[in-house]
Amino acid sequence: MNPTCLEVLFTPAEFTGLSQRNLREVVCVVFDILRATSTMMTALANGAREILPVSEIAEALAIRRSRAEVLLAGERNGLRILAAQTGSIDFDLGNSPREFTPEKVRGKTIVMTTTNGTRALRACATARSTLIGSFLGMRALAAWIAQEKPVNLLLICSGTVDQAAYEDALAAGALCDLIWPDYASGRISDSARMARQIYAASKADILRAAADGRNGRRLLGIPELREDVPYCFQQDTIDFLARLDGEGVVRRVRTDGIKRKT
Ligand code: MLT
Repeated sequence: MNPTCLEVLFTPAEFTGLSQRNLREVVCVVFDILRATSTMMTALANGAREILPVSEIAEALAIRRSRAEVLLAGERNGLRILAAQTGSIDFDLGNSPREFTPEKVRGKTIVMTTTNGTRALRACATARSTLIGSFLGMRALAAWIAQEKPVNLLLICSGTVDQAAYEDALAAGALCDLIWPDYASGRISDSARMARQIYAASKADILRAAADGRNGRRLLGIPELREDVPYCFQQDTIDFLARLDGEGVVRRVRTDGIKRKT
């Protein structure tokens, strides 16, 4: 039997390099805690049908031209994409999870482009499976991993622009901590040990730690977005799993029958 393998990628340069790796037997989990993956989980929890992550604004606009019913969402520099950037229309939504209310998203297909999170997801296109990581649904994710025991598990921190992001490393470390017993006898990369240590050092006041990071500071400095920071650090408010499927669409996964660790 193959030994289990747990690895974390911290930086965008690493996920950009994924096209050179064979991911066919790898399960990926993508974290963009502030805010893309937290926002996707919120949208699905509030009834969105599906999310199409795309890398570029032009791709989102092209989909809208052929499917007028989709909502366009996303950010550049943290803010909603406006006509000045598209050359035509304003996007319907930004990237604040608090905008994705049931009234706005129920039953909708959302096409989303963000600076890092949607690019990280797209980089995993050839993986066996790609799951959406968040603090909001961390235990549901850990429960699925404990049940399915993927042999190769790759945790991807989306980062911010071209740098690592502290909150993504914290989340990867939190997941490593929850699943450690299932991987400890296998091949654990130094990066997974580092993520777990980072989480251990900060878990007593995780929100405070997040506020010290570049993204946390940036969002806390924007009055209309500052509440996104505590929102995205809520733990286990969502009890389902979401996955990027082979068509590049993010949907909820049925998790009936998965035993939760308490
Ligand atoms: C990203 O995808 O880079 C982030 O979600 C950016 C943001 O929250 O503004």
